[in-house]
Amino acid sequence: MSAYENLHAKLGQGEAIAGIIGLGYVGLPLAHALHRGGLRILGFDVDGEKIDALERGTNYLRHLGDDVFAELAGSNRFHATTDFSRLGEADAIMVCVPTPLGPHHEPDLSFVLESARSIGRTLRPGQLIVLESTTYPTTTRDEFVPAMMGVTCERAVGLEIGRDVFVAFSPEREDPGNASHSTRSIPKLVGGMDECSTKIAAALYRRGVEHVVEVSSPEVAEAAKLLENIFRAVNIALVNELKMVLTELDIDVWEVIRAASTKPFGFMPFYPGPGLGGHCIPIDPFYLTWKAREVNRPTRFIELAGEVNTRMPEYVIERLTLALNEEGKAVRGSSVLVLGLAYKPNIDDTRESPSFELIERLMNLGARVEYSDPFIPRTVPVRKHDLALQSVELTPESIASFDAILISTDHAAFDYRALAHHARLIVDTRDAMRSYKHEVSGRLLRA
Ligand SMILES: NC(=O)c1ccc[n+]([C@@H]2O[C@H](COP(=O)([O-])OP(=O)(O)OC[C@H]3O[C@@H](n4cnc5c(N)ncnc54)[C@H](O)[C@@H]3O)[C@@H](O)[C@H]2O)c1
Repeated sequence: MSAYENLHAKLGQGEAIAGIIGLGYVGLPLAHALHRGGLRILGFDVDGEKIDALERGTNYLRHLGDDVFAELAGSNRFHATTDFSRLGEADAIMVCVPTPLGPHHEPDLSFVLESARSIGRTLRPGQLIVLESTTYPTTTRDEFVPAMMGVTCERAVGLEIGRDVFVAFSPEREDPGNASHSTRSIPKLVGGMDECSTKIAAALYRRGVEHVVEVSSPEVAEAAKLLENIFRAVNIALVNELKMVLTELDIDVWEVIRAASTKPFGFMPFYPGPGLGGHCIPIDPFYLTWKAREVNRPTRFIELAGEVNTRMPEYVIERLTLALNEEGKAVRGSSVLVLGLAYKPNIDDTRESPSFELIERLMNLGARVEYSDPFIPRTVPVRKHDLALQSVELTPESIASFDAILISTDHAAFDYRALAHHARLIVDTRDAMRSYKHEVSGRLLRA
C-alpha cells in the first residue's frame, strides 16, 4: 500500500492522529472540530499554561464556551503537550502559530519556521503537513518546506513530497465570536504542493469541516487568504473616510450604509470604527506589500487603506477634544471613560485593539482615563501598550462621574439606556447609541 493510500485509509477509518501546533484562537477550534469528526488529536504548544489548562478543562478562550474545554479534557482521543519530539506520532500536522509583523512592518515568520524545523526533526514517511498561518504567497514552498526538509537532510533523502510525505497550505478563516459561522461551517480552502497532497489534505479537513474547496497550489490558497483580508481592510478604510466627510456634512454615515445595503446586488456593507483591531486585518495586508517589493510593484490600495485606518484614533480624539471644548473643558484634567477594550464586540481579544491607542493618546494629553469592559477585568501588556488599569463597573453613579464616555467597542452587555440617561457627554464611534439617541439627557456625538 502506498503512503497516500495508507493515510487515506487511516483518515477514512478515523484512526489517524491529527497533530495541531499552536492551540490559540485558530488551532483550538480546529482541534475541536476534528475531534468531533472522530480523529484522535495531539495538540502542541510552547505555552505550558495552555497545556495545563487543557488537561484540567479550564477555559482560556472565553468565546468558545466551557463545554469545548470540558469535552476535550474528558476525552481519551485528545492530548496536548509541550514535547515536540512527539510530532512523529501524528499522521497529519497542522501549523497554526502566529504570523506577526516585525518592527519595520516586515513579515515575522520566526514562529512558522521554528515549527517547520520541529516537524523536520521527526518527519517520517506517511505524514501530511499543512501550514494554516496567514502569510504571503510562496511561503509554503520557498520558506516552510526548506526549513522542514533542511533539518532532516540525511533523513529526507528519499522522502519525496507527493509520494512519501504530503504538504499543503490551508488558510484559517476563523472569526471569533461570530455566532452564525463556526470552524465546521466555514468552507476550507486547500492547496497542495501536488495533486496527492491536495487530495489527502482535503480528506483530512472533511473529517471536521462541511465544505472543502480544492485549489491548484499553495500559492493560490495563500493569496486567497490575503485577498480576503485586504478586501476588508480597503473597504473599512473607504467607510472610515466617508464617515469623516459625511460627519462634516452632518449626514449620518451609518444610516447611509443601511440605506445602501438595501440594494440586493453589487453592494456589501462595511462599518466605520475607531481604527483597526485584531490579529488579521491590521497586519496581514502588509505581508503582501512586503512581497510585492520583490517584483517591484506597488500596493497603493493597501498602503492607502493602512494610512486612513491608522489615522482613525487621532480623528476620534480630535472629535472628543472639540466636544469637550464646546463645554468649556480641556482634555487636560478631564475624566474620560473608554467603553470596550476588546477590538470587537462580545469577545475578550485585545490584540491590536484601537482602544489602547485611544487611552494612551488621552493620557498623553493629560486626561484622567479609565475603561470598562465586562470581558477584561484588568489590562495585560499587549504588543505596544502596558496600561495597568482595572475595568470600572458601569453604574448610574460611575457613568455620571466622567466628563465624557467614549464608546470604542459596542459590547452587547453595556447598558446603553443607562448611558443615555446618566452620561454628560457620549462620543460614539460605533453607532451603539442608535436605539437610545432620543433618550440622551446630555450630549451625544458620533466620531
Ligand atoms: N485569530 C483569528 O481570528 C485568525 C483568523 C484567521 C487566521 N488567523 C491566523 O492564524 C494564525 C494563528 O493565529 P491565532 O489567532 O490562533 O494566534 P494565537 O496567538 O491565539 O495562537 C497561537 C498559539 O501558538 C502558540 N505558539 C507560538 N509559537 C509556537 C511554536 N513555535 N510552537 C508551538 N506553538 C507556538 C502560542 O502559544 C499560541 O497558543 C496566524 O497566522 C493568524 O494570522 C487568525
